[in-house]
Amino acid sequence: MIKRGRRLRETAFIRDMVRENTLTSNDFIFPIFVVEGENIKEEISSLEGNYHWSIDRLPEVIKEVEDLGIKGVILFGLPEHKDCTGSEAYSESGIVQKAVAKTRETSDKLYVITDVCMCQYTDHGHCGILDGDVVNNDRTLVKIGEIALSHAKAGAHMVAPSDMMDGRVGYIRNILDINGYENVAIMSYSAKYCSAFYGPFRAAANSAPKSGDRRTYQMDPANAREALHEIDMDVEEGADIIMVKPALSYLDIIKGAKERVNVPVCAYSVSGEFAIVKAGAKLGLINEKAVALEMLLSIKRAGADMIITYYALEASKWIKEDNK
Ligand code: PBG
Repeated sequence: MIKRGRRLRETAFIRDMVRENTLTSNDFIFPIFVVEGENIKEEISSLEGNYHWSIDRLPEVIKEVEDLGIKGVILFGLPEHKDCTGSEAYSESGIVQKAVAKTRETSDKLYVITDVCMCQYTDHGHCGILDGDVVNNDRTLVKIGEIALSHAKAGAHMVAPSDMMDGRVGYIRNILDINGYENVAIMSYSAKYCSAFYGPFRAAANSAPKSGDRRTYQMDPANAREALHEIDMDVEEGADIIMVKPALSYLDIIKGAKERVNVPVCAYSVSGEFAIVKAGAKLGLINEKAVALEMLLSIKRAGADMIITYYALEASKWIKEDNK
């Protein structure tokens, strides 16, 4: 007798009934890039359809995000001045701190996450404090703690350290707690790979290292078990959510993380993943909507509970369209 899998694919109704995963706007977190200045909404050439926003115009995109039913944003800042200790990253009047306050003022519902790192703020472009040409882990922790605290003070609901220094989750948890921010959550970029897929982001955030690369702190793409070890340590240190980044080339890591820990798993579908689909669509080689949604669905199917994606707005619109 032939075993017939096709029975459950016969009509749209039965396919809808047996579908295991569905994308909704609840799944997405939208990254927003904020710059100093006034009246700025400038398209980012490496990230089509994404913009550099000045604080005064930030409400426009915040409202759009809300209207589409997206629940969270992650804010990235481009400071006017960089220096060797990245001091604008933890200044109370820093760009992200102002953006957090503005977002909270604009929307009382939207969940505000901040990226905690130094690479956009240091003149050398590395994610920490340099000793010669090596990033000093423990001196960087002090700064990372200050950055996280300044974001919490500005009103962030959750901080997301992306620097890959050892011990940062425990360090940040402690700083937040002793300052009365015990309810500010930590989403750790636990398994952040040293990936070539970050290219368009670095152009957008002006954050490429001036010399060397990030191999002494970001993970080797060849390693999988090491990612699980990093995730274990972050959960142990108090991470509320762990993240895998990038997403599409690391679906095995997302799946492994989901099977291993019982905290939510976030996946960051990074700039290069977005750019490839955009470019392919522009060349007329692929159907953008279908490919982008399939890609996001695959990340969810692998085990992501939430996805940071530059497609958050478009995908939410497409999903709405399809559900009409
Ligand atoms: C900051 C940071 C980076 C990204 C997110 N946070 C860049 C990097 O590590 O070089 C990349 C995001 C993307 O490519 O979309 N450390």
